[in-house]
Amino acid sequence: MNILSPSILAADFGHLAKQLEIVEKKNTGWVHVDVMDGMFVPSISFGMPVIASIRKQTGLFFDTHLMVIDPERYIDDFKKAGSDLLTVHVEACKDVSATLKHIKASGMKAGISLNPETDTEKLLPFVKDVDLVLVMSVHPGFGGQKFIPETLKKAERIKREIEMTNPSCRLEMDGGINLQNLKEVLAAGVDTIVAGTAVFGGDIEKNITEFEKIMF
Ligand code: DX5
Ligand code: ZN
Repeated sequence: MNILSPSILAADFGHLAKQLEIVEKKNTGWVHVDVMDGMFVPSISFGMPVIASIRKQTGLFFDTHLMVIDPERYIDDFKKAGSDLLTVHVEACKDVSATLKHIKASGMKAGISLNPETDTEKLLPFVKDVDLVLVMSVHPGFGGQKFIPETLKKAERIKREIEMTNPSCRLEMDGGINLQNLKEVLAAGVDTIVAGTAVFGGDIEKNITEFEKIMF
């Protein structure tokens, strides 16, 4: 079953609760929460206090994407704030296995991600240990960037690994996804779609409906 995970990075933060209400009404179930530390990526977004606040406003599943160096430091804090899934970058962890174990032990689902320029082989050993693999289809750091088509090959390779070693693991793609390239992303085996600008730019309800027509 496919899932759409709208990225709130592209939302209007002054009206976040209202916009999340629209997303929740559309029944996507998930929302993508981008945390940036200004070190792993050039930009800074928001952290636990914002997540804790929106946790009170919505029952959506918080698909939390940590673009943060040494994320193990903050696992318990994100759990407390209300995250449901924590995805960490293979490039950012001191000890990937220990970090994934810690996330699971805290009661959250665990995800692993890789940047477009990172060798897929670096991530493959962890596929068996996670609930989700996130393939970045832009260089992380900002919303509204152009999709990098070469990353589809990475998704296809990881999908094969998922089928062999951990069939219930979800395959997510993030960055520059829109109604024009959505079909090829799904064709690569991706079942969990992150979209920021293409969902929150303009009429949110209508945008989600258009995604749903292609995804379901
Ligand atoms: C990029 C973030 C993405 C971003 C997606 O660093 O991880 O989740 O918000 O936004 P769009 O869909 O606008 O590329
Ligand atoms: Zn993201």
